[in-house]
Amino acid sequence: MPILIKNGTLVTASETFPADILILDEKIVAIGSHLPAPQGCQVWDAAGKFITPGGVDPHTHFDLPMFGTVSSDDHYTGHKAAAFGGTTTVMDFVVHEPEGFAASVQAWQQKAAKAAIDYSFHMNLTRWDETVSAALPQLLQMGITTLKVFTAYNQRLRLGDGEIFAALRRAGELGMLVMAHCENGDVIEPLIADALAKGNTSPEWHAHTRPAWGAVESTLRLAAMAAQANAPVYIVHMNAGGEADMLTYARQRGAPVMGETCPQYLFFSVEHLQRPDGAKWVCSPPMRSEADNARLWQALRSGEIQTIGTDHCPFFFNGSEPIVYEGKPIAIPGKELGADDFTKIPNGLPGVGDRLPVLWTHGVQAGRINANQFVALTSTNPAKIFGLYPRKGALLPGADADLVIWDPHKQVRHGVAHSHQRTDYNLYEGWQLTGLPEKVFLRGKLIVDGEKWLGEAGGGQFLPRGRGEVL
Ligand code: URP
Ligand code: ZN
Ligand code: ZN
Repeated sequence: MPILIKNGTLVTASETFPADILILDEKIVAIGSHLPAPQGCQVWDAAGKFITPGGVDPHTHFDLPMFGTVSSDDHYTGHKAAAFGGTTTVMDFVVHEPEGFAASVQAWQQKAAKAAIDYSFHMNLTRWDETVSAALPQLLQMGITTLKVFTAYNQRLRLGDGEIFAALRRAGELGMLVMAHCENGDVIEPLIADALAKGNTSPEWHAHTRPAWGAVESTLRLAAMAAQANAPVYIVHMNAGGEADMLTYARQRGAPVMGETCPQYLFFSVEHLQRPDGAKWVCSPPMRSEADNARLWQALRSGEIQTIGTDHCPFFFNGSEPIVYEGKPIAIPGKELGADDFTKIPNGLPGVGDRLPVLWTHGVQAGRINANQFVALTSTNPAKIFGLYPRKGALLPGADADLVIWDPHKQVRHGVAHSHQRTDYNLYEGWQLTGLPEKVFLRGKLIVDGEKWLGEAGGGQFLPRGRGEVL
């Protein structure tokens, strides 16, 4: 059945204008003034509302085993939370298993069979040798065009600089994009040993042992290697103001480097880790300072940083106490695992559903970015960089009808009860939000209607991706 959304104000990455939108067979087929309603058409009146393309979150970790437990949102609950927050596409990271790429991707596809929104995958690249290099084209055949490398997590996920340089060159030959987690593992390991030897075991030491200098020099190191390999690199979860400085330094000299930050690095600082419940803010890289928050906002405003993802990787704060999710009790071991030792706190925090509502109020309404930048950073730019544009991230004829109708006047006190993320806490607990998604469409299907969930497990599709753009 055709759907006509009338009288809305469309907000794209570059323009804001009044228009109607006609949807047929999962696609936007027309955008214009006073569009006639075809026979049998369902009509929604969006007068007084904004319409944006569905959010694209380029960085999630659903159902990820780590620290002897597993991230507490799976590929259904995390997708549902994303949808309530206006996100209709997510990109998750596949663990690089010793059995090879095909088996690794197959395992992730099995987990994602319950997908409720559209999704694609990045591949963690945590081993490097001739066999791995030769196998990379397999990923392209599976529609996976992006690889994540780490300069921290020694002896676990990290590749050496020489290996990263070789991976960049090979990725460049194949038209793939390398994403980089930038910290300095060789500095972090001895700092952790020192802290533990001195009995410094509280959550704030997670931040003190992962200094911003490591993130800053590692960002420049990756940018430099990308320039020398003539292959693009995308710096994930940028957290330190100095990383923005390095990104800009490199971009001004023509290095093909792009960057992503996340809401947690815009709103929180190491002081949050000093609270009695500081473990809630433990993720890697850690929170920095208010000056870093301010520099990252500036980099978003100026276009120095290209995207805002979430790095959604939630754990319970107290996994020994069940919560009720969709009517059933569930408890998953979480941050309490590190009650006596910060190195045992599972690294990661929730955010996939919080991202757009929090950024709308505290970014757009607060005057830190404008509404078009909001769409560019959270939808259009990730779609372009990751090879999904204009199918995703666009309000254009021919694009998937992934739309969010925003009620700019709706107010909530945000928090765990409102967010649909499957954890027992929310970083934005009690924050007053004005302007929220009212209706969310995935390929023309209404999946969120106010507080009503109309989506379903299995309703999301895998998105094989091609080559993206270097923005
Ligand atoms: O602490 C975090 N961010 N956990 C997820 C893994 C990663 O490095 O992005
Ligand atoms: Zn990372
Ligand atoms: Zn991550």
